[in-house]
Formats: sequence, structure tokens, C-alpha cells
Amino acid sequence: MNELQDLYREVILDHNRRPRNFGELEDADRVVEGVNPLCGDRMTLYVKLDGDTVQDIRFKGTGCAISVASSSLMTERVKGASLQDSLALFEKVHAMLTAPEFNESAEIEELDKLAALSGVRQYPTRVKCASLAWHALKNALTGAADEISTE
Ligand code: FES
Repeated sequence: MNELQDLYREVILDHNRRPRNFGELEDADRVVEGVNPLCGDRMTLYVKLDGDTVQDIRFKGTGCAISVASSSLMTERVKGASLQDSLALFEKVHAMLTAPEFNESAEIEELDKLAALSGVRQYPTRVKCASLAWHALKNALTGAADEISTE
């Protein structure tokens, strides 16, 4: 394992052990339930908006280390961000997880810690674990659906 992979592994383990922004948000403006159909794991995402800013965001649920770490990293990153920037970030992470032509090294600075999720690219079932929180985010911010599945 090289140094970068070690670092990525550490980030995932840390966010799984101590998930940031974990719990309910009583006064959330948007609540989205997400399910990974492959394993049945569920997460709930709570978002509180202030104009076009994500004022607060939390999540709860059960899932594997990748899924919990991805939710934690996502909430950490978009808390305080604009809706536009958060949706742009969704596109970037989605491309990192799924697009064969994605050039990680060109995007790495902007992705920062989120690049730790790139290790799942070779494992299609794990891509669903990592992308669950991000699909929930997109639906919460666009108001498209309050229940999603990564199918
Ligand atoms: Fe269920 Fe990863 S195995 S979310």
C-alpha cells in the first residue's frame, strides 16, 4: 500500500469511528431517507437552509464504514457552503466515484479529504455505499425527492 492509500484509509477509519454531524436535526427544512438496495442499509439526511446556504446538516442511520465515512465527510464539507457549490461538489464526487475518464490527480486539491473515497471506484458494490449520502444531499438541496435509493 502506498502512502496516499494509507492516508485515504486513515481518513475513512477516522470518520467511521467519529462521524461528524451525526444525529437528528429537529428544525431541518429538508429530510431525505436514503437506502442502499444492495444491503438494505438506511441513512437519513437533515438539512437546514439559510437562504441559499446550507446552515446546518446532520445524518443518522446504519451502514458500513464507507457509507458512514462518506456521510460524515460530505456533511463536514457542505456545512456552511452555498447550494450551488454543494451541487457542484456532488457532480465532482459522483464523477470521481463513477466516471472512467475522471482525472483524480487534476481534481485532488479541490476534493481534498473527499479523495479518500476514490478507493471504492474498483468495487461497484462499494460505490453505492459511498454515493448514498451524496444522492441524499442532491435530493435534499433540489427538493426532488424525500426518499431515494442508489439503484
Ligand atoms: Fe450497506 Fe455499505 S454495506 S451501506
